[in-house]
Amino acid sequence: MEKDSKSEIRRSRSIVLTSEASHSERCGGRRNRLLYPRLFMHAIIQAVGLTKKFGDLVAVDGIDFSVAEGESFGFLGPNGAGKTSTMKMIGATSPISGGSLSVLGLNPAEDGPTLRSRLGVVPQENNLDEELSVFDNLMMYGRYFDMPRSEIRERINELLDFVQLTEKKDAKIQALSGGMKRRLVIARGLIHDPDLFILDEPTTGLDPQARHVLWDRLYRLKQQGVTLIITTHYMDEAEQLCDRLVVMDKGKIVAEGSPRSLIEEYAPGEVVELRFPVGVLETLNSQIEELAPRTEVLADRALIYTSDAELTINAVTTNGLEPETVLARRSTLEDVFLRLTGRSLVE
Ligand SMILES: Nc1ncnc2c1ncn2[C@@H]1O[C@H](COP(=O)(O)OP(=O)(O)OP(=O)(O)O)[C@@H](O)[C@H]1O
Ligand SMILES: [Mg+2]
Repeated sequence: MEKDSKSEIRRSRSIVLTSEASHSERCGGRRNRLLYPRLFMHAIIQAVGLTKKFGDLVAVDGIDFSVAEGESFGFLGPNGAGKTSTMKMIGATSPISGGSLSVLGLNPAEDGPTLRSRLGVVPQENNLDEELSVFDNLMMYGRYFDMPRSEIRERINELLDFVQLTEKKDAKIQALSGGMKRRLVIARGLIHDPDLFILDEPTTGLDPQARHVLWDRLYRLKQQGVTLIITTHYMDEAEQLCDRLVVMDKGKIVAEGSPRSLIEEYAPGEVVELRFPVGVLETLNSQIEELAPRTEVLADRALIYTSDAELTINAVTTNGLEPETVLARRSTLEDVFLRLTGRSLVE
């Protein structure tokens, strides 16, 4: 597709989302082989009972979700929840073991090459060619999609500028920092101007500044109308980037909604965190439980869920508790996860 006409479609995406004609247009004129139920008429990903098994291990356990065009959709969950397994099925690099999956109106099992040509993928591990330069890595990737060299060259310049790596164009991969490599993998995933961009833990291992640069870039893509699928175990990342997300644990979806609605539903109000010297906390269970209808005693701190942090902090002193530190904060997706699973997201 011509770049101009493609960006034209992009620009018009937000206003034509609900029209039948636009749906057909977005799917490149192809009608869906898998019929969408009415409910998911405008979903560009639809999974029903999606399952992935490795031998006896059920990595993804019959999950249902749908993603609308232009949406930024997240999978939040701890290690081993099944996030990467789900991303690989969406990306048509790992066959589904059960259920059904439609991506951009295509069936990954039958239309893998077509589908992959319309997807941008940032895998969990940076699989760059360490021997090649930044430029050559991007050129090689563009050639994989049969793009003409002149077009790739132009795109490389745009993308290196977008991820702020123009100065590193001729550098070897080995000479890049972790944050630079991650930005390069993001640029690489965009070389063929994909309709759907899948990012598996885009910022894991990066320092706070590098994470913020990446969030900014992803936010800009979203504003341009690119649909983003993001996995993360950082709740702040999910809150920043996702319009809607599913919380995954042990292969299942345990909750779904916008970050705000999940917090409202599962962890409304404020949280008072109390830290005590090592060994003291386990002796204080009953006193802590008296502070609020919902409390959590973790290995290193106690969490008190309250509608009024100030009142709770006063009650801490009245109850004779002497924490080392007291912190009042708003509740986050971490609190949602704890409520749903009894465990922390990052252990
Ligand atoms: N190729 C494989 N062969 C066998 N088991 C696998 C394979 N890939 C993943 N698993 C298992 O499937 C489960 C889900 O793994 P997956 O990589 O999808 O989790 P994840 O949510 O991406 O975790 P992380 O946050 O650590 O990346 C884990 O128990 C994992 O050990
Ligand atoms: Mg993973």
